[in-house]
Amino acid sequence: MTDQVAFDGVHKWYGDVPVVHDLTLGVGAGEFLTLLGPSGSGKTTTLRVLAGLEAVTSGEIRLAGRTITDEAPERRNIGLVFQNYALFPHMTVAQNVAFPLRARRAAGIGARVDRALEMTRLTALRERYPRQLSGGQQQRVALARAFVFDPAVLLMDEPLGALDRNLRDHMRLELKALQRRVGATVVYVTHDQEEALAMSDRVGVMHRGVLQQTASPEEIYERPVNSFVARFLGQSVCLPATRVERAEHTVLRVEGVTGPILVDRDNDTCEDLSGEFMIRPERLRIAGRRPAPSGVNAVRCVVEARVYLGARTEVRLRAEAGAPLQVTVPTGEGGALTEGSAHWLSWTPADGRFLTRVV
Ligand SMILES: Nc1ncnc2c1ncn2[C@@H]1O[C@H](COP(=O)(O)OP(=O)(O)OP(=O)(O)O)[C@@H](O)[C@H]1O
Ligand SMILES: [Mg+2]
Repeated sequence: MTDQVAFDGVHKWYGDVPVVHDLTLGVGAGEFLTLLGPSGSGKTTTLRVLAGLEAVTSGEIRLAGRTITDEAPERRNIGLVFQNYALFPHMTVAQNVAFPLRARRAAGIGARVDRALEMTRLTALRERYPRQLSGGQQQRVALARAFVFDPAVLLMDEPLGALDRNLRDHMRLELKALQRRVGATVVYVTHDQEEALAMSDRVGVMHRGVLQQTASPEEIYERPVNSFVARFLGQSVCLPATRVERAEHTVLRVEGVTGPILVDRDNDTCEDLSGEFMIRPERLRIAGRRPAPSGVNAVRCVVEARVYLGARTEVRLRAEAGAPLQVTVPTGEGGALTEGSAHWLSWTPADGRFLTRVV
């Protein structure tokens, strides 16, 4: 099947500064793809070249198989929703939503606006002006205006960024439901990891203009391709490590940890001899005594601090040989993990990974 959106070896430079580097990425019809990454990693620029607001330096962009690299933005049939909504203040809700249809001299404007207003639950507010709306309502007008003309793709750049936490959670569900109903193809940008994991079919992590990995939320969280992705998404324990042996298991020497650490061969994706050992805090088990079975990794640690986070409590520990480790326990459990107390942490070779170091 042809991808709805395809980037093919796209580079974008601002002057002599590379901002997007060799981006090759396909987005399927009806797919919800989210780009995550630190500030300045090239997310907005990626959306802007797709929308045609910036020219690419080299490479090709296709929409449903058609090359659009040099096409004017208004001919690309792409809907945009940005953080500041950019509603027209002198137009009512209905006029704002009708605007893209009028600009395109579309047929049946009235019925299409009615439908868009209904889907975003704005029918009762159609005669209001933007200044008479709450933030969430303005957000819905921006959404209605973006998909009223049945765009081939919807691009959203932190569309919920200006909303408070509760409204954001609510709009997240609404937006996702709307996207499913209309079967829209969405390329979404957010700073909020939880939002990305909750809404997306696939998540892409960008770093310095390079797309590091694109995968389902579960895949990218459980099997990050390198230490940058592991650190960026969720909590992780990452420690410098060296591969000593690659036999039945990979055997690692981990900085600050006494004794060898075993990792499943499938979890060893490190391209070099030295890289980073990675484990998610929820994979570490707390044992009173040293765990007996062979093939289980065990490290003796002392609790340094507890951080209360409401439903969970984060416990920071220090291995005898110096490595910082961390476990997360449901609040109310882990009462024995008092500051200064010593414990064994254990995990199986399937729980840890050996990753290429990318910083
Ligand atoms: N018009 C421009 N001219 C020159 N440099 C630019 C221009 N627009 C963006 N940049 C630079 O390109 C890099 C990527 O910017 P971009 O806006 O794509 O980042 P981002 O990932 O969206 O970041 P944020 O999360 O802060 O929104 C930044 O270093 C930025 O300063
Ligand atoms: Mg941005």
